[in-house]
Amino acid sequence: MEIVESVQEMQQHMASVRASGKTIAFVPTMGFLHEGHLSLLNEGRHRGDVLVLSIFVNPTQFGQGEDFEDYPRDLKQDCDLAEEAGVDVVFAPSVAAMYPSDYATEVNVSGITSGLCGASRPSHFRGVCTVVTKLFHIVQPHLAVFGAKDFQQLAVIKKMTRDLNLPIEIVGMPIFREQDGLAMSSRNIYLNPQQRHQALALFQAIALARDLVKNRERDSGSIISTVSDYLGAHSLIRIDYVTICHQLTLQPQQQIDSDSVLLLAAFVGQTRLIDNGYLMDLS
Ligand code: PAJ
Repeated sequence: MEIVESVQEMQQHMASVRASGKTIAFVPTMGFLHEGHLSLLNEGRHRGDVLVLSIFVNPTQFGQGEDFEDYPRDLKQDCDLAEEAGVDVVFAPSVAAMYPSDYATEVNVSGITSGLCGASRPSHFRGVCTVVTKLFHIVQPHLAVFGAKDFQQLAVIKKMTRDLNLPIEIVGMPIFREQDGLAMSSRNIYLNPQQRHQALALFQAIALARDLVKNRERDSGSIISTVSDYLGAHSLIRIDYVTICHQLTLQPQQQIDSDSVLLLAAFVGQTRLIDNGYLMDLS
């Protein structure tokens, strides 16, 4: 496994891999890898000849007062896990390499980025789209794998890729959960035992909403209010949003149908967690 830090070296290396006719699968991450990330790598390994992982804690997607400085980092452990997962190339650039002091360009997707996490974190998706576009141009992948845990991010990346005619297939993977149901996240490390216990309420709230739908409830407002009451009954949880949206447009829905997704964001203590789930059992 190679570890590359230089943008130029990476770009040249990937151009020659591409020229050799091999299919490049790419998994962009901010590191501190967990099994959710590994499930994306596993998918990438099956779909491509060469598997590339990027590890870059991207400052431009963190707002002021957010956890950029404190975001967990462990490059050594990440590289060990990457090697086990069959990664061929790790790209781990510095902030200065990605954003030199005269850096001035941003990528902005409008509309789909304005609600949900975009409402609470106004510059977040601009930072995500900018860094992902840069990474796509450096890695030059045929396909890139993203997780549905960040449901809005996946929709935004698909939209951006389509709008900019990027010749890259975007593959979405289901949420990988802890045994008790908590969605895996690099930020779960911030939770103390009491917070970790209450964090499970996000997953339980999705299960509760699905039960309501199974029992023929179709009114979004009523489901949102039950879910909000359930989360609100937990002393360490502060709701950011509870929304039911169409899976593609991310527009709020009044009535539940097979495209409905429940999206949640909540602070557990100081830690902001997100989760989501489809409301109708499609099987
Ligand atoms: P990060 O939070 O490290 O996540 C990297 C990828 O792993 C994303 O596609 C995310 O959706 C996926 N992922 C995280 N937890 C998951 C889980 N429990 N199950 C399945 N997939 C999961 O998302 C980012 O980094 C950044 O915004 C990035 C796209 C790298 C741009 O900086």
